[in-house]
Amino acid sequence: MSLLLSPFDLGTTTFRNRLWVAPMCQYSAVEGVPNDWHHVHLAQFASGGAGLVIAEATAVVPEGRISPGDTGLWNDAQREAWAPIAGAIRARGAVPGIQLAHAGRKASTFAPFASERGSVPRDRGGWQTVAPSAIAFEGLAEPAALDLAGIDAVVTAFADAARRAAAAGFGVLEVHAAHGYLLHQFLSPLSNRRDDHYGGSLENRARLLLRVVEAVATAAPAATLFVRFSGTDWADGGWDVMQTATVASWAADRGAQFFDISSGGLVAHQQIRVGPGYQVPVAAQVRRLAGLPVSAVGEITDGPQAEQILQAGDADAVMAGREWLRDPHFALRAATELGEPDAASWPQQYLRARPRAALAHDASAAVGR
Ligand SMILES: Cc1cc2nc3c(=O)[nH]c(=O)nc-3n(C[C@H](O)[C@H](O)[C@H](O)COP(=O)(O)O)c2cc1C
Repeated sequence: MSLLLSPFDLGTTTFRNRLWVAPMCQYSAVEGVPNDWHHVHLAQFASGGAGLVIAEATAVVPEGRISPGDTGLWNDAQREAWAPIAGAIRARGAVPGIQLAHAGRKASTFAPFASERGSVPRDRGGWQTVAPSAIAFEGLAEPAALDLAGIDAVVTAFADAARRAAAAGFGVLEVHAAHGYLLHQFLSPLSNRRDDHYGGSLENRARLLLRVVEAVATAAPAATLFVRFSGTDWADGGWDVMQTATVASWAADRGAQFFDISSGGLVAHQQIRVGPGYQVPVAAQVRRLAGLPVSAVGEITDGPQAEQILQAGDADAVMAGREWLRDPHFALRAATELGEPDAASWPQQYLRARPRAALAHDASAAVGR
């Protein structure tokens, strides 16, 4: 059997395969509460055979939302709304996961499908953003630098959100330290110009992330803890693969168990060349340097391509985003592309659609009984 369709064990969690759904914001919540859109959107990927479904970047505080329509976990009403969604994913055989996030200086923006771009003005529902330093992301409003009490409050908010996520039934909690959001802003020297013990050296820039990892691990000890990193800023003087590998190993010492390696998002002038599997080499380098389990993501769109990444030892699992939006049954299709349709977790209701010689010749399967 392929590696892609083989189970993967991590701590106490078993994933039925290694083809997973990356977190994807839907910008469709009201006051941070997920709704039937999120329920159908996420549950369909579990029906489609995913091993893990990670719900979108979910803000730990209201001011940590990328847009006013982001989901949250800063109150119990949000936890109650997430619980049936996590349950629906689990009932369909996938592990339910959720990404815990704070957007920092990239918060308070219009949703990508809105007619306007940039920061939402305060008189139209926007808010003052925060960051390690008062340096704006190109084209967005200037953030306020967090003081030490503000940093402590971020750590507490991540822990509280983790507790709620675990209570809602999520088995994987992913700390979002990628794509230029708050924790990444602390990591990168391009956005962190602090002169206290949260800025300067790598140890200092990593301090907030490591505190968050430790707090989340303590708050939700039964959950499996992932960290998503941007493995590089694709910009001179920025965050890079070496620093990612070093900080990943420090995070592992504090309870992180798996590393989801993406890239970019910190600065608008990043020099990134996208194409099939464009971030796989970044994930592979982190895996080899740190000796830790990683997933690769980015334009991975079919079963053989995903299998080749695993066979090469470049990653332990594969995540995809947009391919799941194009085909919510991506894992069922990937198994067929690999010549082993039976290896995928077909819902019994869909079995008559499973490509199989025996079924294809069974006229009753086609005409119904
Ligand atoms: C609609 C959409 C929303 C996204 N939202 C998030 C998010 O909430 N958190 C995150 O870390 N990445 C987010 N991403 C990035 C994806 O997780 C993924 O890393 C990226 O799309 C590359 O993978 P792909 O080529 O398979 O789509 C989003 C991507 C898309 C297309």
